[in-house]
Amino acid sequence: MGLEVPLLDLKAQYAAIKDDVLRATTGVIERQEFIMGREVGELETAVAGLSRARHGVGCASGTDALLLLLWTLDLKPGDQVIAPAFTFFATAGTIHNTGGTPVLVDIDPATFNVQPEALEAAITPRTRAIVVVDLFGQMAPLERILPLAQRHGLPVLEDAAQAIGARRLIDGTWRIAGELPWAGAFSFFPSKNLGAWGDGGMIVTQDDALAGRLRKLRLHGGAKQYHHDEVGTNSRLDTLQAAVLLAKLPHLARWSAARRERAARYTAAFTGHAEIVPPAVGPANEHIFHQYTIRVPRRDELLAQLRAQGIGCAVYYPLGLHLQPCFAYLGFRPGSLPATEDATRSVLSLPVYPELSDAQQDAVIETVQEFFG
Ligand SMILES: Cc1ncc(COP(=O)(O)O)c(C=O)c1O
Repeated sequence: MGLEVPLLDLKAQYAAIKDDVLRATTGVIERQEFIMGREVGELETAVAGLSRARHGVGCASGTDALLLLLWTLDLKPGDQVIAPAFTFFATAGTIHNTGGTPVLVDIDPATFNVQPEALEAAITPRTRAIVVVDLFGQMAPLERILPLAQRHGLPVLEDAAQAIGARRLIDGTWRIAGELPWAGAFSFFPSKNLGAWGDGGMIVTQDDALAGRLRKLRLHGGAKQYHHDEVGTNSRLDTLQAAVLLAKLPHLARWSAARRERAARYTAAFTGHAEIVPPAVGPANEHIFHQYTIRVPRRDELLAQLRAQGIGCAVYYPLGLHLQPCFAYLGFRPGSLPATEDATRSVLSLPVYPELSDAQQDAVIETVQEFFG
């Protein structure tokens, strides 16, 4: 076995920022201010600022960010929410859990993001909202989705769990993830580009009334303790996690730029290999490469070969949400969403973290190239 190359190296990140992050968390510990401490508000302001949104509302996870937002739609049985089938489970699981029926649609095979045509074709009189996902860190084509949603009077929820800080050039202006839709949802799961030391999430929105309602819903439905305007839940962002995230936030743009450089280096090496399809990035996109995902034939064999060489890699995602056993009631069959199913058979995500060295990356490139001869 050659050089070890993990899929992600959070220990290397920690070593680089240890003093700052320990100082930030020690401050919280010394004040013993674990619940809704001042760092939570500071992070909300900072993330809202980054996303050019009027409000940031911290919550317990990316899943809860989606859940709280969908909850505000007061979905009734039979109400439909459209979402792509090729994404992390939470995108559709939260629709189900808030009483809606997920209507799953296919993706654009080049970018892995939702196909606007498929989305529009799925709209019915029962449609209540559209969830788009900025998969792997590249923004969905909002310039096409937002106008069609507006024509049908539907709110758009941007699942930007993987895309904090990603940008897209729309009508000549760079727009950032979370800026344009009804609301955006971020995850601070530890492996994300901006990751906490546990679970965490945040909603961003321009809508004052929505932000006010969300701030109550995450505190059992009451702005004032022991007084409840409606039934909410406990979904707070821990002060300790907010402190970790505040210490990491100044590094985010540089980390994402380093991921882009790593991605460009892979793409340069793989371009021209008939069997390796690098991820497509439109010129109108600043991808943050939460994942660098290639498409290849004999994917499982390549995965085994990489792992045998000590190289971390993963399949995001091996099964479309439309074919998950828990969604059998939606009535999809194999072949229903061909681009999603094709992606599930061919995708492979390679190590793309900022601290990845040239030597480590070369080991990945050589193994992939040798595999295909
Ligand atoms: C696209 C997408 N949506 C939602 C989530 C849920 O976020 P969390 O794991 O913080 O609950 C994730 C992250 O894991 C994700 O990748």
